[in-house]
Amino acid sequence: MKLCMIGTGYVGLVSGACFSDLGNNVICVDRDQKKVNDLKKGIIPIYEPGLNELVLKNYKNDRLKFSTDLKDSVSKSDIVFICVGTPTKKNGSGADLSQIYNVAKEIRNSISRFKIIITKSTVSVTTGDEIEKIISQKVPKKLFSVVSNPEFLREGEAIRDFYKPDRIIIGTSDKKSNKFLRTLYSPIISRGAKYINTTRRAAELIKYASNAFLATKITFINEMSNLCEKINVNVEDISIGMGLDKRIGGRFLRAGPAYGGSCFPKDTKAIVTTGDKYKINLSVIKSVIKSNENRTSLLLKRIEVILKKNIKNKKICFLGITFKANTDDMRDSSSLTMIPSLIKKGAKINYFDPTGEKVDFKKLKNVKFSANINSAVKNADLIIIHTEWNDFKTIDFKKEVKNKKFMIFDMRNIYSPVKMKELQIKYFGVGC
Ligand SMILES: NC(=O)c1ccc[n+]([C@@H]2O[C@H](COP(=O)([O-])OP(=O)(O)OC[C@H]3O[C@@H](n4cnc5c(N)ncnc54)[C@H](O)[C@@H]3O)[C@@H](O)[C@H]2O)c1
Repeated sequence: MKLCMIGTGYVGLVSGACFSDLGNNVICVDRDQKKVNDLKKGIIPIYEPGLNELVLKNYKNDRLKFSTDLKDSVSKSDIVFICVGTPTKKNGSGADLSQIYNVAKEIRNSISRFKIIITKSTVSVTTGDEIEKIISQKVPKKLFSVVSNPEFLREGEAIRDFYKPDRIIIGTSDKKSNKFLRTLYSPIISRGAKYINTTRRAAELIKYASNAFLATKITFINEMSNLCEKINVNVEDISIGMGLDKRIGGRFLRAGPAYGGSCFPKDTKAIVTTGDKYKINLSVIKSVIKSNENRTSLLLKRIEVILKKNIKNKKICFLGITFKANTDDMRDSSSLTMIPSLIKKGAKINYFDPTGEKVDFKKLKNVKFSANINSAVKNADLIIIHTEWNDFKTIDFKKEVKNKKFMIFDMRNIYSPVKMKELQIKYFGVGC
């Protein structure tokens, strides 16, 4: 099939590359000229395991193309996926859907034969209705169909998630579009993915409800970890004990820093705004947001306790600063709040991240990027394991850290407190 992905970010580029690998002809469109030029040269703008190989292979095969020309790309395609950003509005309430509506206005100038227009971006309920309205101002309704097909891929595991998703949600009441999309997704359905056809509004809500639920799970176990710290219980035991109950499940049930990333923070806020719009108080999600916002200050207070309020001139090393492992995405990572706050109190920060130096910290005085783990931890007073990369799981701290009195605050509970005690390392985890 001939597909066009509008927006070549995490979602557009990964799904575009995967669809092309399944034998479709895909044009990935972006308004960012540099991104498109780089992609044409084989430079991949994001870190995502396996993506480089997939993009290069299909670009060489000529099944995957890159363009800044939206009009031309849409007119050549049968199915158009909208994959642009839907960030939180500047005033903090609800999703800013302006990128979506701008794309809808552009698309309507290029439809002269039937096209399926799909929102893969996470969009508020009734956005599909609005897109339909915008396009139908210029295009007869029989020439297009607007479908919701929310994306559930996780950064860091995006390619695996594309090929082996738990479910494919198609929100449409149009039989023709449903048939087309079932065929498009048939290679994935045959690998075991469930294909669910719902109304468009239901599909839009499924995405928000899923993210809000996962954010709630994380926040729930984070709060449990606070209690565990007071009663001398290890939260890891609680996660295992709860997670083995099939009704609960162990995923997203590990205590750690506040949830971050490009989805949970903005999507929880957006669904609350939708609830408010319809005068429904989504009080559970409201408290999740509040609890998560408090999480970073709680962990900062814990750092103060560990360092006995003596933060000035302390050398603090951060291992990992992205919001989770296997991604270079810094959006809403808790390190963005923690590091500036610690510097304000006089700390000197060294950080290492497998995805390299971050612009976010380049201008901050007393924040340095180390090119490897060894140099990052070498002179540290306190090592903070912020992100759960495999690279951090087998560090010989006794050998690598020259300062004999160093301490570790493991925000991901990677290491065993018992083993650390045996090694006579002063070690703190979360919820233990
Ligand atoms: N990142 C994830 O893990 C993930 C997972 C599931 C769903 N989503 C959702 O998917 C959507 C996209 O997220 P993302 O992380 O890929 O965003 P992103 O910011 O990485 O990419 C969006 C891209 O769209 C481009 N763009 C914006 N307006 C355009 C236009 N008019 N024409 C062409 N290109 C345009 C931008 O230049 C950018 O490259 C969001 O709604 C997000 O919530 C993201």
